[in-house]
Parts: sequence; C-alpha cells; structure tokens
Amino acid sequence: MAFPPRFLEELRDRVSLAGVIGRRVKLQRRGRSHVGLCPFHNEKTPSFNVIDEKGFYHCFGCGAHGDAIEFVRRTEGLSFVEAVERLAGEAGLPVPQADPAERERFEREAKLRDPLESAARWFEQQLRAPGAATARRYIEGRGLRGETIARFRLGYAPASRTALKEALLKEGHAEAALVEAGLLRQPDDGGATYDYFRDRIMFPIADARGRVIGFGARAMGDAQPKYLNSPETPLFRKGRTLYNLAIAREASRGAGAVIAVEGYMDVIALAEAGIEHAVAPLGTALTEEQMQVLWRLVPEPHLCFDGDNAGVRAALRAAERALPLLKPGHSFRFVMLPEGEDPDSLVRKSGRPAFDAALGQALPLAELLWRATRAAHPADTPERQAAFEAAVKAIPARIEDPTVRDYYERWIYEKLREGKFQARQRPWSAKPRQWQAPSRGHAFTPTGPLRKLPSLADTRSRRERSVMALVLAHPALLAHVDETLGDIEFSRPELDRLRHAVLEAAARFPALDSETLRRHLSDNNLAGIADGLLPAATFRPQVFRPDAELDEVWRQFAETASMLRQETLVTVELRQEETALAEAMNEQTLRRFLAVKRQASEAAGTTLEPGRKD
Ligand code: UTP
Ligand code: MN
Repeated sequence: MAFPPRFLEELRDRVSLAGVIGRRVKLQRRGRSHVGLCPFHNEKTPSFNVIDEKGFYHCFGCGAHGDAIEFVRRTEGLSFVEAVERLAGEAGLPVPQADPAERERFEREAKLRDPLESAARWFEQQLRAPGAATARRYIEGRGLRGETIARFRLGYAPASRTALKEALLKEGHAEAALVEAGLLRQPDDGGATYDYFRDRIMFPIADARGRVIGFGARAMGDAQPKYLNSPETPLFRKGRTLYNLAIAREASRGAGAVIAVEGYMDVIALAEAGIEHAVAPLGTALTEEQMQVLWRLVPEPHLCFDGDNAGVRAALRAAERALPLLKPGHSFRFVMLPEGEDPDSLVRKSGRPAFDAALGQALPLAELLWRATRAAHPADTPERQAAFEAAVKAIPARIEDPTVRDYYERWIYEKLREGKFQARQRPWSAKPRQWQAPSRGHAFTPTGPLRKLPSLADTRSRRERSVMALVLAHPALLAHVDETLGDIEFSRPELDRLRHAVLEAAARFPALDSETLRRHLSDNNLAGIADGLLPAATFRPQVFRPDAELDEVWRQFAETASMLRQETLVTVELRQEETALAEAMNEQTLRRFLAVKRQASEAAGTTLEPGRKD
C-alpha cells in the first residue's frame, strides 16, 4: 500500500531520529549532530553520524545512509510498510486509511486469502496422508529434503473430484469464494462445482509478503499439462507475480543479487544448494512488470535460462523486452546454462560450484545482443558484413532512456571499430614480438606491491593521464582514436588543454610523428605538462616504448578510455540521485542513491589499470 507523502513527512517530523537510533547505538552529541559506532560495519572509532534536524544518518566508514524508516528497516529486518507502521505506532500517529475503492479491493482480496491459506494447509496434510504414497515417492525421487518440503509448503491434491471442496466447505468457507479463488471449477452448464486440482503435487505461490495467492500443480505422470496453474483471480495476477519472491527478497539483501530462473523446481533446488535469492515467473516469459519487481531488489538481476534452444530464445526475448525499459545503472545479466541442463539438474548433478561458475560467466545485456546478432549474420562477404553492421546498429533505437541509448550507440560503434581496426592492423600483429606483453598492464607503477584501493578520483586521474600519455608516446594512434579522445571528460583543465593541442596537431599535420607533436606542444607552452605525464625513466612499461606493437597500445587506450566513460556515467548518475535524494527522501530515492553509490565504489575498486581482454 502506498502512503501519502504528507503522512510520511509528518512521520519523519514526529520521530526523533537520534531517539530511534539511540536505542541501538550509543550516541554522543557533537555540534549539531550525534556520532557513534556504526551498527552496519565493524569499527573502533565512531564514523556514524546522525543529523537529527535533517532526519538522516550517514556513516563515513561504510557509506550507510538513510532516514528513520530505513534504519528500522535495516536493523529490524522489516519491510518498508512494516517499518512505517512500527514507527507510526510509536509516534502515536494513525496510519492513514486507504480510499474507499482501495478499501473495497482490500476486503475483496481478504475474502479470497483465507480459503487459499486453508487450501495450502490442507494440501500439505494430504501429502502426509496414507493415500499419498506415490506423491511422496515422486518428491523423494526428485531429491527433496523434508525441511525443504515444509519450507516451500509442498502438498498433494488427491485424485478426487470433491475432496478439497468438502473439506473447505466444512471449514465454513463460502462456495462462491472458493470458485473465485480458483480452487473450484464451475462448469459452464451450471452443474456442480468440483476441485480444480486433482492428483498433482502442489506448489503454493505467495505474494511479496509471503501470503498464498495461488498454486502451481505438477502432474506426476504424463498428464497434460505438466504444470497446471491457478486461473487468474483478483489476487493471483500472474504477470506481476514471481515464485518465491518473499523469501528471495530478504535473501537478496544479504546476497546483493537476485536470480530469475525458469521453473519452480529450479528455485527449490537452488534453495537446497544454499542459494535462496532465486525466483521464477509462472510459466510465461518474464513480463515488464516482473522486470520492474526484480529491479526494485537489485540494479542488475541475473536472468538464468535453461541450456536448450528454448532457453536461448527465451533469453533473447527477455533482452528485447528489457531494452525499452533500461535506465542508467539498471540492466540484467544473462546466465546461459550448459547444454541440456536447467538449474535443478545442474546443482543436483554437479553441485553449487557448477552453478556459481555459470553465474560467473553471465553476459551483460549488450554483449548478449551483440553475440546474437553476430550469430545471425555470417560475415563472410562484404554485403553480409554490412548487414550485420546495420542490424547491430539498430539495437540502440529501441532503448527509450536517452543516456543509456547514447552509451549503447558508442559501445557498438567502438566494438565495430575494434573489429575493423584489428582487421586492418594484421601486419603489425604479424611482426615478431619485441617483448612479452604483461598479463596485467599497469601504466605508472609496478604491479604487485603498494596496491591500496584507490579512491574514485585517484583512479580517474591516473586513467586520464594514462590515455594522454599513450597518444603522446604513439602519435600514430591518433588516426584511430581521435574521436574517442575528443569525447573524454577530463577532470583537470591542463589535460583538457593538452588534448585540444594534440588533436589540433593531428588535424594539421598528416602522419604526425613525436618530433612534430613535441614542437607543436612547445609552441603552445604545453611541453612541461606533457613531460610530466610520461612515465619515469626508471620504470617504463612496455606500452610506452617506441617499439611497442601498435595494436597492443591501441587496446590499452581503448580499454582505459572505456573505463573513463563508465566512470563518467556513474558519477553523473550519482550526482543526479543525490539531488533526487535531497529533494525527497523516500524509499525509492534512497534505494536508487545507494545502488548507484555501490556502483561508484565498484568502479573505483576495480583493478587500477585495465587488464588485457582475451
Ligand atoms: P519446465 O518444463 O522447464 O519444467 O517448465 P521444470 O520447472 O524444469 O519442472 P520439472 O523439473 O520438469 O518438474 C518451467 C516452468 O514453466 C511452467 C512452470 O512454471 C514450470 O516451472 N510450466 C511448464 C507451466 O506452467 N506449464 C507447463 O505445462 C510446463
Ligand atoms: Mn526441470
């Protein structure tokens, strides 16, 4: 239920943040704020700040950040609504009643909830009854443990037309409610109602708060369909429901990830293997609504598909469907399982490490679409190469967000150019190697020792200097990278000036060599800055040496430039989210801010200089 913003504002005004936090953290007043030891990470000196008048806390150690609702949510493990209700109760603030229409819907739904819960309990009992020996054998045969059966509330619908009906009527449920809840079928000819599910293993399906709203039901033999799902009801809207969402939502907080798989049994098998943050749609392709639900959990959910042709097709359909919805920082990663496996068969056969390995090879959405387009277009003639290029360039047009679209265009442009450049540069690569390329290139300091985690700004500045130093050392590179170089956002004005001068020289002098470039920079009083960039004489990584192979140099340049672009994106986004947060602090703005912040620190924490691809 959505709360009116006025109510949330009043709630935040009423509660004392220092009071709420003070119950868990020993706080000391310091100026206008309070400080204490952060409850979200281990520390000896206090870096956790509570700014009561602004209504938020911030930890300078781990970056934890939020308001009273967020604090209660995190420390008590509650949902947003529960945290609001808890705080409102303490503040003596009545939680607003929904409007009459919403209220009516709420009551209508409530009438269906009770029969569904009763049915789930009854199916569970039936699985333990003497008549269910075959069902129990089937479940055992699939390797499920007793605790899993209890946890997922698996049950059995006996092979009877009226057993459930009789049991639930006896419990006092109204027949009409049982029909509306999808538990009984009403024949068109007006005949007597009868049980919807017969002789099937029952999988209760719950909403985000863990309340039963419908069932999936598997036949044990060859009965068709293999899975029969509850019909669409006011409560059970398949397009927006995900199996196991309630449990996965909690688990995703700890794991920082969520995985959508294809089937109920996959979710259950993964849970047995210790992966509790998995969900599944209900037998249809992922809908846009389900994608939005996943994005509310983490910015880049994994979508995992069976290792068969249907799985590949489903992955592409999901990718196509996601394109228009992409937002800065929000995407999906695609996990393709080994041939013939689904998550259930894979973890049962080869254990969790096999599944983790597949996760580790997840493809970004852009890469998946690139590869699929590549695979669909053999590139053995110029015409077919052109057809591939046209097809791959058409991808970004389907993205609605202008920033994401722009980056897709650049990324594709870059990939195409890389392909062409490598094709053109064959002669260089064929030259005998002068030196062995380092496995992990690092421009200015030796790899290995002294590798503290750099701040975003440090890394950025090192990368900026690195790309400039590369073109200074190898002006021949400029013929291939002038556009990329022109697009970089330098954080220091002198680098910006240097770049302009270099591009100017490249435009003015064809076949620019180091000598000419140097003279041009001298004339513009930039030689000092340029020299400051070149690596110290004592340590000169191979890519800066005059005899370095140009395609090696180019690769180093392209990778560093692409990281800079990535960082620019994240930083711009971080600023936007910060502004949004300052304007309205609510669950959504806070969650977005935190997600982007996590990405920003990931960008800073990656290896200092790009390792080589391939
Ligand atoms: P699968 O055919 O991959 O089944 O369908 P599965 O999950 O691996 O199940 P087992 O291992 O054979 O028991 C994937 C999902 O598609 C839906 C179900 O949600 C199922 O979990 N489905 C499948 C249906 O709704 N109806 C069907 O007839 C088949
Ligand atoms: Mn299966």
